[in-house]
Amino acid sequence: MSQAAALKVLHVAAEVYPLVKTGGLADVVAALPPALARAGADVRLLLPGLPAILDGVQSARVVVEIGACFGALRVRLLLGRMPDSGLPVYVIDAPHLYRRPGNPYQAGDGSDWPDNLRRFALLGWVAAHLGADDADPDWVPDVVHAHDWHAAMACAYMADHQPTRAASVFTIHNLAFQGLFPLSDQALLGLGSHKLGAGMEFHGQLSFMKAGLLFADKVSTVSPSYAREIATAEFGCGLDGMVRSRGADVSGILNGIDEQIWSPASDALIAAPYDLDHLDGKATCRQDLQARLGLDRDPEALILAVVSRLTAQKGLDLVLAALPALLRERVQFAIQGTGEPALEAAFRLAARAHPGRVATHIGYDEPLAHRLIAGADMIAVPSRFEPCGLTQMYGLRYGSVPLVRRVGGLADSVVDGDAASQTGFVFDAATPAAVEQAVRRALALKADPAGWRALMARGMALDMSWGRLAQQYLALYHQARTARQAATGALR
Ligand code: ADP
Ligand code: GLC
Repeated sequence: MSQAAALKVLHVAAEVYPLVKTGGLADVVAALPPALARAGADVRLLLPGLPAILDGVQSARVVVEIGACFGALRVRLLLGRMPDSGLPVYVIDAPHLYRRPGNPYQAGDGSDWPDNLRRFALLGWVAAHLGADDADPDWVPDVVHAHDWHAAMACAYMADHQPTRAASVFTIHNLAFQGLFPLSDQALLGLGSHKLGAGMEFHGQLSFMKAGLLFADKVSTVSPSYAREIATAEFGCGLDGMVRSRGADVSGILNGIDEQIWSPASDALIAAPYDLDHLDGKATCRQDLQARLGLDRDPEALILAVVSRLTAQKGLDLVLAALPALLRERVQFAIQGTGEPALEAAFRLAARAHPGRVATHIGYDEPLAHRLIAGADMIAVPSRFEPCGLTQMYGLRYGSVPLVRRVGGLADSVVDGDAASQTGFVFDAATPAAVEQAVRRALALKADPAGWRALMARGMALDMSWGRLAQQYLALYHQARTARQAATGALR
């Protein structure tokens, strides 16, 4: 039996596709654990009992009655199976904290749930108890892998539980969301050691993100470039000093894509399947998209699509500002997203002002996202910062050439500048002029059908599967275990 076959890994996260998704985190949490299982690891998930998770997890049974904690009267730990992968999944059933409608982090009006400290402290606390062998004696992880601030307290509670045999790995998907709470709420965390609470202090607040950064045995982020960027003041969101202090403990592994879900040859959500040798399906998807969105049926137009949260991070204001100049060219825009009301309104307005040329769909719609990515000629991701980004990789897979800013995972996944290896268009400045210039370069290449086809072909042929990346995570887990062994002096 290989070493990997014995490794027990617990993934802890607040969202997972297809049950609960607010962004790429859910896609990663759905795809990485099964890839690790295929690589021989013994993998389970731990999720909060949000309504869609309780409804979607199959054959759940009670593992342990935890009782009253974190302000909830009745907390139980359930064990069931994920609907798609069949992976075992622990679910924390805490009706008072989790059984409420909508978003895992926010109420319908966009404000954070007022008890988020308790809700996500509980998630980390249960993870630490699983890691410490006192929640489910039948299965004790070797590695607890916590995703983003929502799960970061696992690392603090594990440090509190010394010596915990399990190692902790903390993955930062987005340093900009930190989980900040009033310092005066520290007592609610129930940490045994005052030093831990003091370590989490961040400019007069408690920072769950900092807890992950400080207490995890190893820290990773979702691209090598972002791992370097967050050590700088420009991208570090105030935590760059902390990142630098962890030195080589911080590394980056580029995300992959789930090819079961994102593959034009087998995607049941798109108008026609296609692959590199049968691109007529892509032409069908293109026509379908134009018809569906009310865009002019212009076979020559360059369709530039966006599927994104509409927030400052994503840089879509740059696209808006470049729109008037680009609409003088044969370009059409297909925008899908939700987010800041001002951006939503501006894209709606652009669609009204330019019928047939600009189509805006404000809303969250998974099937439409597939249709946009399949039917477009290009996917634009002009982010100000981007830990990884997934839609540019979906674009590569679907022959929809990415147009991205040179930051984070966008810089790591799209190649520009060398005709033989080019897979997309990459620009540097966060300005409308830079977007415009990159689109003009694309238009020039699109005028050469053979050159454009070769560009698409290089992207479609890339290996972006999770299989190879799972090996990188397994290597990271072994490093984390070695670090933990050094720290505690004993692994079982
Ligand atoms: P982030 O996690 O920062 O939002 P990513 O590119 O990593 O960015 O992941 C975004 C994910 O959310 C992708 O799977 C994308 O297709 C999806 N997505 C974003 N906005 C929408 C939307 N309005 N409708 C459907 N899917 C969306
Ligand atoms: C975050 C980041 C995004 C990344 C995703 C999955 O939401 O903003 O860049 O792709 O997490 O790791």
